[in-house]
Amino acid sequence: MVNNPDNLPILQRGEPILAQVASAIEDINSHEIKQLISNLKVTMQNAGGVGIAAPQVGVSLRVFLMASAPSERYPNAPLLPLTVVINPSIINKNSLQELDWEGCLSVKGKRAQVSRYTCIEVKFQDETGKKHHQTLNGFIARIFQHELDHLDGITFIERLNHEADVINEQQWLEQTQITEAR
Ligand code: NI
Repeated sequence: MVNNPDNLPILQRGEPILAQVASAIEDINSHEIKQLISNLKVTMQNAGGVGIAAPQVGVSLRVFLMASAPSERYPNAPLLPLTVVINPSIINKNSLQELDWEGCLSVKGKRAQVSRYTCIEVKFQDETGKKHHQTLNGFIARIFQHELDHLDGITFIERLNHEADVINEQQWLEQTQITEAR
């Protein structure tokens, strides 16, 4: 039985757990995992995120959620229903990488252009334990890579070549508006 889901505080970069490699989940059907998934869902929705990983709420286990729809944080996001991703791996990727803007609930108020593979072949289990094998493209592939990084103790800041690539939300809004006006 799952209790009422809680909105959990989101840890910020600098917390040691965000730099740790998370452990695989063995008992997907346990009460603790069901509760964790409920909490992650509520926390992500309240924060307006398109993804959230367990280490961001202080749990060092290999699970993240993805859900995408156009929003204030991501105006051009495609539609992806809530997807629970457990014990994920990237088994293949194309050679092409693309730069695009990312933010992170654990790096508040910052944005940067991050290079990610445009097409990845992935494996994971869902919340029932069922195995999935999918090919993901574009923005969804980007979310998957960003969230998988969290399970390996990496935030998008560590993916940058230069710290100067990080800008604040206000600069980002101005820059992206300029880009879209072109
Ligand atoms: Ni993040």
